[in-house]
Amino acid sequence: MAVSYKELGLVNTKEMFAKAVKGGYAIPAFNFNTMEQMQAIVQAAVETKSPVIMQVSKGARNYANGTILRYMAQGAVEYAKELGCANPQIVLHLDHGDSFELCKDCIDNGFSSVMIDGSALPYEDNIALTKKVVEYAHQHDVTVEAELGVLAGVEDEVQAEESHYTKPEEVIDFATRTGCDSLAISIGTSHGAYKFKPEQCTRDPKTGKLVPPPLAFDVLHAIEKKLPGFPIVLHGSSSVPQDEVDTINAHGGKLPDAVGIPEEQLREASRSAVCKINIDSDSRLAMTAAIRKYFDEHPEHFDPRQYLKPARENMQKMYEHKIVDVLGSNNKL
Ligand code: G3H
Ligand code: 13P
Ligand code: ZN
Repeated sequence: MAVSYKELGLVNTKEMFAKAVKGGYAIPAFNFNTMEQMQAIVQAAVETKSPVIMQVSKGARNYANGTILRYMAQGAVEYAKELGCANPQIVLHLDHGDSFELCKDCIDNGFSSVMIDGSALPYEDNIALTKKVVEYAHQHDVTVEAELGVLAGVEDEVQAEESHYTKPEEVIDFATRTGCDSLAISIGTSHGAYKFKPEQCTRDPKTGKLVPPPLAFDVLHAIEKKLPGFPIVLHGSSSVPQDEVDTINAHGGKLPDAVGIPEEQLREASRSAVCKINIDSDSRLAMTAAIRKYFDEHPEHFDPRQYLKPARENMQKMYEHKIVDVLGSNNKL
């Protein structure tokens, strides 16, 4: 039987994005696959009084089961209330939906927002697919994120070798004809922990660490000019904190030359029309670093609660840092 997100206490992105664009901050969109991620996201959002988007990829549905994830999101709302947040603003969002059928299934099963990612399709096909999803979603008051332009790297099991920046001259036509509520653009971010090849970077002479090329802010500003006040989304926005990478590598891991988007650039983007910033890899790194360290220091332990607790704490710390120091979505409830 179909269930509306409204019955679950979730909200769509409409009002949240309007306030974020006006207020010059961005809403965090954190991917989750496990209970510990969900708990850490809710704890961080409540602690910082931030709205939050909890997003589920196709891979997450395959891993954890779509029904379970939906009930976890419902549980997240109740948990936030239990933690003292009277009016939590939580969105359950499908990340990188790749078909009308998948989006419909999510809309029918409690999601308040969906992404239809037709970015790999020819332009007209992307418009047709996005429009079809928007028509169905809007009948249910569900908001839709679309994508124009291609990010390099892994897009939920799809690999793109090369990125293509979003063409500012296409965005008005695309947004008008599809009726989408927000638009993910390509300005140099990409998915995963290896966002740039070492040859695309310079090296900091003091630390020896890789310094990536800057994002294409000129493209972002040209898009903002074409669509004033329209909500823009950045995928692939993990910063790949070097202290977490170092911890992983110091405790048996092997992540050579992992590099992300510098946080100053995300801070700058948050002040613009960018009102949703997607972060997944940083959560994976925070969890893995804490667990590797714990295993190294306590080889005699084998109760998952012993090592998942510091993993959850480390993720919560990272989420709070993003909210307060990078996106600026704290104290907005
Ligand atoms: O866009 C990619 C997200 O990080 C989701 O990744 O497909 O491995 O769950 P995933
Ligand atoms: P990261 O891999 O940079 O965390 O990006 C996540 C993302 O864009 C999810 O859609
Ligand atoms: Zn993404």
